[in-house]
Amino acid sequence: MPHGEPLLAIRGLNVEFGLPARPVRAVADADLTLAPGEILGIAGESGSGKTTLCAAVMRTLPRTARVSGRVEFAGKELLSLPEREMARLRGRDLAMVLQNPMTSLDPLYTIGNQLEEVLRERRRGGGAGRLGSAVEVLRRVHLTAPELRLRQYPHQLSGGMRQRVLVGMATAAAPRLLIADEPTTALDASIQDEILILFRELRESAGTAVVIVTHDLSAIRRLSDRVVIMYAGRIVEEGPTVEVFRAPRHPYTQALLASLPRIEEEEVVLQPIPGQVPDLARLPPGCAFAARCPAAIPLCREERPRERTVGERHRVFCWRAGEGAA
Ligand SMILES: Nc1ncnc2c1ncn2[C@@H]1O[C@H](COP(=O)(O)OP(=O)(O)OP(=O)(O)O)[C@@H](O)[C@H]1O
Ligand SMILES: [Mg+2]
Repeated sequence: MPHGEPLLAIRGLNVEFGLPARPVRAVADADLTLAPGEILGIAGESGSGKTTLCAAVMRTLPRTARVSGRVEFAGKELLSLPEREMARLRGRDLAMVLQNPMTSLDPLYTIGNQLEEVLRERRRGGGAGRLGSAVEVLRRVHLTAPELRLRQYPHQLSGGMRQRVLVGMATAAAPRLLIADEPTTALDASIQDEILILFRELRESAGTAVVIVTHDLSAIRRLSDRVVIMYAGRIVEEGPTVEVFRAPRHPYTQALLASLPRIEEEEVVLQPIPGQVPDLARLPPGCAFAARCPAAIPLCREERPRERTVGERHRVFCWRAGEGAA
């Protein structure tokens, strides 16, 4: 895919938690770019830093987090942006959908009240664009009987309907970037697909770029243009989805994909890989995956792998990737 200016450019991003003397590096040296309208999938075991990476972009990390590096969004450096300007971007150009649709909606107000409030806020923020009415927002996410839904309370809707409402709210102003952190984990498979189709529609109709974090590798395969695999706070492999799924180069990616059946429609959740995810406060000097890696050589335990390009925009951090052995 040819690329002009990236919409999002993350450079040398580091996020630490805990005591400075014994830091937990939740995200380490992350470099990543995203083109306008591109759909990027992020996968990796629990604790690999996916949410932290997304929260760093949205600037929703807890104040105890120490962040360094650069996050450029549409030409603005977000990490140094005053909070007021950041708040203006959030929800308008930059939107986020989270995992749990119940806690993201207020149980005491109707869907209509909450949606109206969001629309008022967006209009105040100057997000004229395509906002439209509350009913229109619900129609865009294909919610049935939208007029009725507006009068209902969150508990009267199913999980899938609530997630649709949240996607509608998050994307009412046609954001340039939507970050969805496990948006479908709590939903059953058929609804997951419908939510993912909504993201694609959003890209088609509004040119929205989407970052989707998910444990469902088949969803990434079906939905995303590119995929990032994270391990212990680092990006270990990144490339066009087709290529990474056809020829994964990092042994960790290979292990993740090994269990992927050929059947396209089946839902595939990450399979456990033998061994433990390392303690982020005590990472070994070399590759963090070395202890679990079937292809590890002594060098892997001594020195952190450098980035290697193994194909068109396909990069991998593995000493053995160049050998064809890994
Ligand atoms: N507020 C925090 N304070 C301290 N440590 C944190 C905080 N948030 C995250 N971490 C640590 O950072 C690391 C990365 O966590 P993160 O939530 O980003 O992982 P994840 O890949 O999103 O995992 P999951 O798949 O379970 O959602 C973990 O070791 C976690 O314990
Ligand atoms: Mg997470």
